[in-house]
Amino acid sequence: MSSTISIILILVLAIACFVLIILLLGKRSTKQLKINGPKADHSARDVGNFYNDQTNNFLKVYGEVIQAFRTTDVTKLLDYQIETIGFEEGQRVLDAGCGVCGPARYFAKNAKVQVEAITISEDQVEKATKYISDKGLEGRVNVTHGDFHQLEEYYKSDSFDVVYFLESFGHATNHEQVLNSAWGMLKPGGKLYIKDLFIKEAAIESLSEDIQREVRNINDAYRYNVADLYEVLQFVRKKGYILSSVKTIDLPLEDFENLTISNDFQELTGINKIENLQEYVFPVDFFEITCIKPWNALEYGNSRYFLQNLFYMQMHNRKQEEL
Ligand SMILES: C[S@@+](CC[C@H](N)C(=O)[O-])C[C@H]1O[C@@H](n2cnc3c(N)ncnc32)[C@H](O)[C@@H]1O
Repeated sequence: MSSTISIILILVLAIACFVLIILLLGKRSTKQLKINGPKADHSARDVGNFYNDQTNNFLKVYGEVIQAFRTTDVTKLLDYQIETIGFEEGQRVLDAGCGVCGPARYFAKNAKVQVEAITISEDQVEKATKYISDKGLEGRVNVTHGDFHQLEEYYKSDSFDVVYFLESFGHATNHEQVLNSAWGMLKPGGKLYIKDLFIKEAAIESLSEDIQREVRNINDAYRYNVADLYEVLQFVRKKGYILSSVKTIDLPLEDFENLTISNDFQELTGINKIENLQEYVFPVDFFEITCIKPWNALEYGNSRYFLQNLFYMQMHNRKQEEL
C-alpha cells in the first residue's frame, strides 16, 4: 500500500517538474523573440570624436555621401531619396546627421530645397562649410555643429517641412528622444524620413546570438546603437506620428553597390574587419520609415489620415463640438 502511495507521489512530482520545465522554457523563448538591441555604450560626444578622427578615411573610400547601403553611381541613390522623401521646391528641410553635406548639397541643387544641416563632428562642419562655399551654395545649405537629440537648441519649433536622417539615426544614444526632438521641429503636416539599419530578425533561433554579437561589434566599432525596428515604431506611434510607410529600400539589383565600399573602409582602417566572410552572419536589415506629424487644425487635417488627426486633437483637449 505504502509503496503504491510512494509511486503515485513520485509520478505527481515528476509531472510537476515536467510542467515547470515546459513553463520556464516557454517563458525563455518568448523573451528571446523580442530582440531589443544590445544597447550601445557611448555618448554623442564619442560619436563626434569618431567622425573627427575618421572623416578623412570616409572621404577616401565613401566620397562625400557616407552611406553604406547605396548604388554604385551614388547620384542614383540621391535621386531615389528625392523621390521617396518627396521633396517639393522651396521646402525648408533639416538634414539630421549630415556628414559633409554631400546629400544636402545635392538636394539643394537638384530638388531646390533649402537645407539646414547638423552634425556632431566639428571636422565635418569645417569640411562641409568649405564644400558649400566651393559650390556657391551659401544660403541654400547651412551647416551647424550640434546634437540631434536637442534640435530645439538650434532651430525654431514647427519650422521644417521635412526632417530626414540618412544612416545617422542609429548613432542616437536615445532613439525616443531623437524622434521627439524631430517632432518639435516639424510643421504640422511635415514629414519625418529615416533610412537606416535595424537589427535583423533571426529566422533560425540559433542565429540569434550571432546576430546580437555582430550588432555589438558594429555598435562598438562605429559608435552606433543599431535600433530595433519594432521599438522605433512603438516610439513613433506613442508620440502621435502618422506612420506612413515602412519599407525595404527599393534599389534595382543592377544599381546596388553591394557593400563593397564598407568592406574597403574596414580594410583601410581595420575597423570591425570581418575575418571570415563565409561564417559571417549579416546582422542588420536596411529600411526606410516615413511618418507625418498630424495637422492640429481640422481645416487641414480632415481630408487625409482623419482618425489620427482626430485622436491627436483629442489628446490636445479639443472639445468634441470643435472637431
Ligand atoms: C554615417 S554618417 C551619414 C552622413 C550623411 N547623412 C550622409 O549621408 O553622407 C552619420 C552622421 O550622423 C552624425 N551624427 C551622429 N550622431 C549625431 C548627433 N547626436 N547629432 C548630430 N549628428 C550626429 C555624424 O556626425 C555623421 O555626420
